[in-house]
Amino acid sequence: MREFGRAWRAEWPLDPNVIYLNHGTVGVTPNRVLAAQQAIRDDIERQPSRYLLRELTSIVVGRPPAAEPRMRQAANAVAAFLGTRGDDLVFVDNATTGANAVLRSFPLEPGDEILVTDLGYGGVTQAAAFAARERGASVRTAVMPYPVRSAGELVDAFVAAIGPGTRLAIVDHITSQSALVLPVADIAAACRARGVAVLADGAHAPGAIPLDIPSLGVDWYVANLHKWMWVPRSSGILWASPARQQGLHPPVISWGLDQGFAAEFDLPGTRDPSPHLAAPAAIAMMRELGVEAVQRYNHTLAWTGAKHLASAWGTPFDTPEPLVGTMATVPLPETAGRTDDDASRVRDWLLFEDGIEVQVHAFRGRLHARICAQIYNSLDDISCLATGVRSCSLRRAAGDSSVVTP
Ligand SMILES: Cc1ncc(COP(=O)(O)O)c(C=O)c1O
Repeated sequence: MREFGRAWRAEWPLDPNVIYLNHGTVGVTPNRVLAAQQAIRDDIERQPSRYLLRELTSIVVGRPPAAEPRMRQAANAVAAFLGTRGDDLVFVDNATTGANAVLRSFPLEPGDEILVTDLGYGGVTQAAAFAARERGASVRTAVMPYPVRSAGELVDAFVAAIGPGTRLAIVDHITSQSALVLPVADIAAACRARGVAVLADGAHAPGAIPLDIPSLGVDWYVANLHKWMWVPRSSGILWASPARQQGLHPPVISWGLDQGFAAEFDLPGTRDPSPHLAAPAAIAMMRELGVEAVQRYNHTLAWTGAKHLASAWGTPFDTPEPLVGTMATVPLPETAGRTDDDASRVRDWLLFEDGIEVQVHAFRGRLHARICAQIYNSLDDISCLATGVRSCSLRRAAGDSSVVTP
């Protein structure tokens, strides 16, 4: 088999003129999986009513189908990949939808608190704020140590923020901008001991790191398959421990109401189910390439790439290696700026002038770049970013605030 690296870009639909270091943001699907999805769409279009009303879910018109519903077959394949049972896992459009389902179903009462962290994903934190607002509850934010020196200090900061009113905690498995693999199992154990329910947000985890959901000891786990598991957009999952499935409703209620966890989520009205149904094809491809080999390559490239950038920019990167998955976040030189506007300008400069797509953000008064490593990337891509950021700093020093868009 070919070595992973730039040559693999031909297997993905990416623009060959752009260095893509942003795999984690919205995912990219390999050509082969897109072809499998198209075959599913073609199959649907041959007999749409039959496929969608008789074969897709357990809620059917006419006589009961002989085979297991197609959504359940796909869910079983994904569940096996993630160490769990198909009965405990449903598809949702994305991690945000899964988090909304949990937040809107959780019996919050006036005075209750939802605990989030300041490393958490903004969209999910907003959903928590909305659920709290509707019930007279509130959101408390744990301020996490950053930069991080150990997993233990993350657990301590989280646990210290649990208050007497905390009923539900949201913990990211892999944080979005800071790209840290949080010690979810340890945090969940501490929450459980204090009677706090835990929703883990694993948007970036499936396919990126080894994952066995039940072993984490959380109550719910939401994730995206369209980021690191190579499944077409949009495909997410919601896993619920058996004890938490009763009373858990999707944000969109349809025919499956009160007919069980899977039935309720499998049919949120008419939609294109092909992303979810293509998940087995993505799993097959990753297995063929070697799940461990893919994850090892991506992790090593993220880790060595981050070290390379820090050394090129003269900035600190001391994140312990076990807290790094397939993404890594490195501080930019102070000369690159410090505000959200500076971050946007650097990001625009990199894309429109250097052809590099990478996430750049401001956090605690400093700009950071988050690199994503996927098997189509190589260290050369990261070297281009090192040079690109240096020239952004020079442009800024020369007072250039323009961005030339194509
Ligand atoms: C930690 C985390 N949660 C949730 C999301 C939202 O993902 P989606 O927009 O696919 O729901 C992201 C997206 O990057 C994320 O990083």
